Amino acid sequence: MPTNPKPAESHNNLTITLKCFFGFEQVLKEELEELGFTDCRLGNRAVSLTGTWKDVYFLNLYSRCAISVLVEITRFAFRSEQDLYDASLSVKWSNWFHESQTFVVRGAIQTQKVRNTHYPFLLIKDGIVDHFRENNKERPSIDTKHPKIVIDLYLNDKEGVISVNTSGLPLFQRGYRTSTGIAPINEVVAASLIRLSGWDRKQAFYDPFCGSGTLLIEAALLATGIPSNIERTHYAFKNLANFDADVWDNIYENAPRVVRSLPCSISGSDISDEMVIKARRNLRGFSFGRFIEVSSKDFREITDKNGIEFILTNPPYDERMQLEDEELYQHLGTWMKHTMQEVPTWIISSNKEGFHAIGLKPSKKIEVFNGDIKCSFRRYDTYDSKPNVG
Ligand SMILES: C[S@@+](CC[C@H](N)C(=O)[O-])C[C@H]1O[C@@H](n2cnc3c(N)ncnc32)[C@H](O)[C@@H]1O
Repeated sequence: MPTNPKPAESHNNLTITLKCFFGFEQVLKEELEELGFTDCRLGNRAVSLTGTWKDVYFLNLYSRCAISVLVEITRFAFRSEQDLYDASLSVKWSNWFHESQTFVVRGAIQTQKVRNTHYPFLLIKDGIVDHFRENNKERPSIDTKHPKIVIDLYLNDKEGVISVNTSGLPLFQRGYRTSTGIAPINEVVAASLIRLSGWDRKQAFYDPFCGSGTLLIEAALLATGIPSNIERTHYAFKNLANFDADVWDNIYENAPRVVRSLPCSISGSDISDEMVIKARRNLRGFSFGRFIEVSSKDFREITDKNGIEFILTNPPYDERMQLEDEELYQHLGTWMKHTMQEVPTWIISSNKEGFHAIGLKPSKKIEVFNGDIKCSFRRYDTYDSKPNVG
């Protein structure tokens, strides 16, 4: 294996780019600032900063709102397809990984100046393979399913950036959700929505459609400061030639993971017994799991606030609105107005008719994506409309 300087001692000026879902750039930036990174630059579905390899490891573990953490390898002017091959060939790839390791090239092509959107990746791949050949080494193999090394290409009309994706599998694969239903919310989206909602981490949090418990788990992780990726073991940076196991072990072993209580009440319910069992199973892996109550009930059976101070939820959303769904959203509106009055309630759904059926005016309305599904995230503030007597 090539001998590289230890990462923590070198390369203090890495350009690190954290990718996120559309609409969550500002939320990610705020998260990074809270983690102590002050020079964050907003991009398109991304936030960039300058840092070290130690920061790269730390961010993979601690960022809840990023999908992946990229480290820039080279940036080049793009005039013709030849520039792609030349830029790739100029990288000393054998310093980054070993020829016995599999790799893949992925990324985003935002230009029409290429014969097809797949071709730029092929040219980067050719440059990588030719680099190894020119250095009298075996050529590394491509593996699109389980690559050890993930190379990222970003290309627009003027320039290209080749980076290494240090996360590998997207960071929403947290490793804690072993049981899910048919429509679980993406974990990174869940964490980003909780942050976007402005929940103060002290108000009693409730999810009346909790499904497999993703929002409850992400809320508890945020409230306790336990990294969302504490259960994840896969990180592509571990496959890089310069991986410094001591630096990583230090970060990982010092991360908080055990709590003896929760700073606030977090609980939820779901109509499906099966989903409640799944949520409990997912919660069981965490030290805070035993403090989170999940019960099996239709939200309409909840007839008083019972200390609930904040609701964030993801009701059922079918692409095609069924009559019973319309009724469910109607009842949800009535429940919010009469049972949960004055409890700030945030709802994420892709169901426009559903929102209409709620029959209340949202005080905030934000367009977001849950994976590929375009959704709206709305806040409702309901007040007691009964006249004051006396
Ligand atoms: C979109 S899923 C929620 C997914 C959840 N956020 C997760 O990550 O797994 C909607 C959930 O609402 C539940 N549900 C449907 N009707 C309900 C009702 N009347 N009361 C409570 N839960 C209900 C379903 O069982 C389903 O688990």
